[in-house]
Amino acid sequence: TDATLEKLHDRLKATVRPEEGAIPLFVYSDPDVYRLELERLFGRVWLFVAHESELAEEGAFVVRQMGEQSVIVARGDDGVIRVFLNACRHRGMRLTSEDCGVASMWRCPYHGFTFANYGNFMGTPFERAAYPPNGLDRERLRLIEARCDSYAGMIFATWDKQGPSLGDFLGDLRWYLDIFAGRAEMELVGEAQRWVIPSSWKLPSENFASDAYHTATAHAFLARLGLVRGVDFGRDGYHVDAGGGHGLGMGVHDDRPGSWFPPELEPEYASKLDPDQLALLHRVKNFHGNVFPNMSFLIPNFIPIDGRLVTGMMLRMWQPVGPDRLVAWSWFLVEKNAPAWWKEKGRRMYTQTFSSGGMFDQDDTENWEAQTEVANASLTRPDEVMLDYTMGLDATPLSDFPGPGTVYDGKFSESAARTFYRTWLDLLTKEDAR
Ligand code: FES
Ligand code: FE
Repeated sequence: TDATLEKLHDRLKATVRPEEGAIPLFVYSDPDVYRLELERLFGRVWLFVAHESELAEEGAFVVRQMGEQSVIVARGDDGVIRVFLNACRHRGMRLTSEDCGVASMWRCPYHGFTFANYGNFMGTPFERAAYPPNGLDRERLRLIEARCDSYAGMIFATWDKQGPSLGDFLGDLRWYLDIFAGRAEMELVGEAQRWVIPSSWKLPSENFASDAYHTATAHAFLARLGLVRGVDFGRDGYHVDAGGGHGLGMGVHDDRPGSWFPPELEPEYASKLDPDQLALLHRVKNFHGNVFPNMSFLIPNFIPIDGRLVTGMMLRMWQPVGPDRLVAWSWFLVEKNAPAWWKEKGRRMYTQTFSSGGMFDQDDTENWEAQTEVANASLTRPDEVMLDYTMGLDATPLSDFPGPGTVYDGKFSESAARTFYRTWLDLLTKEDAR
């Protein structure tokens, strides 16, 4: 009801205070907060849905999630990529139950309403016998379509027809996304790995946006066991608050004179990146970030494979399936024109470090799970449990960093997490104009 909503708004506004470095524990997994997230956040902002390499041929489609909603991302016979609600216009039956495929049309399994891969209603069995002589209104029965756009090969969609463009939404993050995914033509390799984590979707999202600090503790045993070597869990590197809830951090080599990427790819990098971006790419040790709200990315470089320095880039989507449950989608992303050894070793780096069986994922998941359990238990407390998000609150940003955004020297900051929760709070409590 309106009164309940008002009460929740008041509680959120009183307790979520990112600028003071204060976030209440209950927001991690509160069911009412989650309802609001689905409606006001996942129902409105740009969400990552697919990569262009998955939809190379006409008619190719993948089924993905925007919040809890199933959508079909398809390249139509006209070559255009569109995003449709995976729901039949007759009784709302799920139109396709496949994960991916190639189809010129989808035929609803319930009564047979059929829709073209560009969204038009095509017909239904016994249409003349069942409906008026001139048939059904084809225009009215088009599939529900989201707004769709792509950046650096990554396809995003939103239900908000009036909101900002994808470019404006990504803002300063674009400069860094170029280095991650726009430095060459990229492709996702194979299908996504998917697994369920009993965690709020926000915990991994803010971790990737902002948290390099946990590595020295949460992942330390990997080094003690000798599973990773030469990984720098320390402070050196940069923390980037890219605005709009987006954030990233990076470790860099200070003394590396040249690139450790395959020489064959350098001309392509140089054609797509500006000199500052290229110089940063060459110095990168690792690079972690989150596109608000729930798409994470990583350039890991934590273990040598066959004695070689390689990276296996990871793309993640933290799909919410409840206030305290998510489905992790994980992909390996690689330069399409890379030599075979780079692709093969990169894939091994990806599967060994960050994937469903990745060493680092085991540590991280345990934390997110337990935090969520503690948050669930805290819902019954009479007073608020407030959490500390003050790291780097008084730090002065760099004035001479070549990239945009608010950039701090050293990885130890929670600035991007504060901006994550500021953006989140504004979306959840904004007065509804509609
Ligand atoms: Fe799809 Fe009836 S629900 S045809
Ligand atoms: Fe981690």
